[in-house]
Amino acid sequence: MPAFEIKKIGLNNYPACAAAFGGNCPFSETCLSQQKEGNREAYALFVNGEIAAECHLVYDNPEYGTVPGKRAYLSRLATRKEYRRKGYGTIIAKYILDLAEEKGYQEIAIGVNCDNTAALRLYMKLDFSVYDTAEDDYGWFYRMEKHITEDVETSA
Ligand SMILES: CC(C)(COP(=O)(O)OP(=O)(O)OC[C@H]1O[C@@H](n2cnc3c(N)ncnc32)[C@H](O)[C@@H]1OP(=O)(O)O)[C@@H](O)C(=O)NCCC(=O)NCCS
Repeated sequence: MPAFEIKKIGLNNYPACAAAFGGNCPFSETCLSQQKEGNREAYALFVNGEIAAECHLVYDNPEYGTVPGKRAYLSRLATRKEYRRKGYGTIIAKYILDLAEEKGYQEIAIGVNCDNTAALRLYMKLDFSVYDTAEDDYGWFYRMEKHITEDVETSA
């Protein structure tokens, strides 16, 4: 695998939907406004100076299962087509999981379209599990979750 680096994407260089959705991503405006509010952090994985994959952490998104201080939301995981199936999606998703853990979150939620086999397999491999099925403007999706910290046993 070629060398890569993961960097935070600021508003000044925010590649709205650069990785996989082209200019047609319906979430661009939400992404930008959440980022302005400090409610979303965007990261990109660069290979040879080019964005190969992207993934975000969202703190407050109750519609999609967040719980303040406990459960955050992984958003906009995307790998540019020519870089797919090389492990980059997994690497940047794990980076976001580690970031959430560092920030004290115990769980991560995601929403995945029911027909998105690639993403579902990736998340299953990362030990996410489905806890509900719901429908939004874009169709049916699975609500998935993963515990990112071990429960600490307290003895009496
Ligand atoms: C889903 C997506 C991010 C995967 O990115 P990626 O960089 O190709 O993922 P990885 O290389 O880390 O793949 C990890 C595992 O996911 C599964 N997977 C990935 N792409 C797959 C595909 N096209 N078909 C079946 N399984 C797939 C495989 O189990 C794979 O492991 P393997 O290659 O050892 O078999 C990418 O396909 C993508 O950008 N899709 C469009 C955007 C999208 O749908 N994002 C998800 C939003 S919830």
